[in-house]
Amino acid sequence: MYAERVLSGMRPTGRLHLGHYHGVLKNWVKLQNEYPCLFFVADWHALTTAYDEPGTIENNAWEMVIDWLAAGVDPSQATLFIQSRVPEHAELHLLLSMMTPLGWLERVPTYKDQQEKLEHKDLSTYGFLGYPLLQSADILIYRANRVPVGEDQVPHIEFSREIARRFNHLYGREADFEEKARTAVKKLGAKRAKLYEELRTHFQQEGDHTALERAHALLEEAQNLSMGDRERLFGFLEGSSKMILVEPDALLTEAAKMPGLDGQKMSKSYNNTIALRESADSVTKKIRTMQTDPARVRRTDPGDPERCPVWQFHLVYSDESTKQWVQQGCRSAGIGCIECKHPVIDAVLKEQEPMHERAQAYIDDPALVRNIIADGCERARKLANETMRDVREAVGLNYT
Ligand code: TRP
Ligand code: SF4
Repeated sequence: MYAERVLSGMRPTGRLHLGHYHGVLKNWVKLQNEYPCLFFVADWHALTTAYDEPGTIENNAWEMVIDWLAAGVDPSQATLFIQSRVPEHAELHLLLSMMTPLGWLERVPTYKDQQEKLEHKDLSTYGFLGYPLLQSADILIYRANRVPVGEDQVPHIEFSREIARRFNHLYGREADFEEKARTAVKKLGAKRAKLYEELRTHFQQEGDHTALERAHALLEEAQNLSMGDRERLFGFLEGSSKMILVEPDALLTEAAKMPGLDGQKMSKSYNNTIALRESADSVTKKIRTMQTDPARVRRTDPGDPERCPVWQFHLVYSDESTKQWVQQGCRSAGIGCIECKHPVIDAVLKEQEPMHERAQAYIDDPALVRNIIADGCERARKLANETMRDVREAVGLNYT
């Protein structure tokens, strides 16, 4: 019914690193060729935990957008914007808050987890409890059906689905919905109508999701339906209401595990990162001084790549023959560790070269970045307002 749309956001918490590149940004760059994409800076979400240190958010936001652009996110393909510059997100968050049971928020697993993890900070706040609801508003306001996120965010997407369902259930009613839906079914033609009814029954009685998907495909293909009828038939599949908000699906990025300099996952909190736009000198130095297999004390001691973080980098960056050279050379003490690190250093520098180049233009002329964002915010607001019109009407605050 509604067009495919991808949306994702990132909190501006500091310089991005190669873990973000391999885990998230490479995927965004691919998606922007495949779908209409919206990518935004979740500055309000940053404020839920950084409310007592607001001075960093704005600068982090601009740097992060440059990191995105450096990585190849293309503003002529994707819409890039800043959450707080599209205040409609806050309006939807507020309206959704009216119908969100407190228990749903308290039960989101990240709530207690994060509170415990950041125990030095008082996070028993209204805003922090509402974090997943604000995220739901971010997604639902664009009727985005695909949300690329990591594993840790899946509960938030699931929460968004439940909120959309509840909203549609509460407000998606028309006085004569059922009658109108039945009339619309007939318009599918006898054969299709029969199949639609069968799939609907399957889904409603057995919760069979493949039946639901097949019914969606059927509606997708049906040519002669008005927008209204199509919406009704989508809604009718799942219940007895019109679909105003769209239930999103998580687009799980297959976890490209980028190792950090110490072999653990690359992460700011482990202090083991290489920044996306780190200088070549610094990259070289960091890799040169990387820990290797502790058993290789002397050059003549054989080693085991499995016990060496440098090997993890080869797995990300090296081709088969290089990897064989490492395996063989390390185990036989045929190569030294510095020698072994060279191809890794070269590969990281090569990966970063175009990023530095792309970033330079934006560093030289910050107005370019401001304009990209201003443009993106304007486009995002238009889309957001399309949904908000329906939402305001649904909750009875239309005032026309
Ligand atoms: N909570 C997400 C994170 O920490 C960021 C985020 C905010 C987001 N709103 C979103 C991600 C909407 C996807 C969609 O990573
Ligand atoms: Fe690690 Fe390479 Fe040294 Fe082996 S030779 S210990 S894989 S750096």
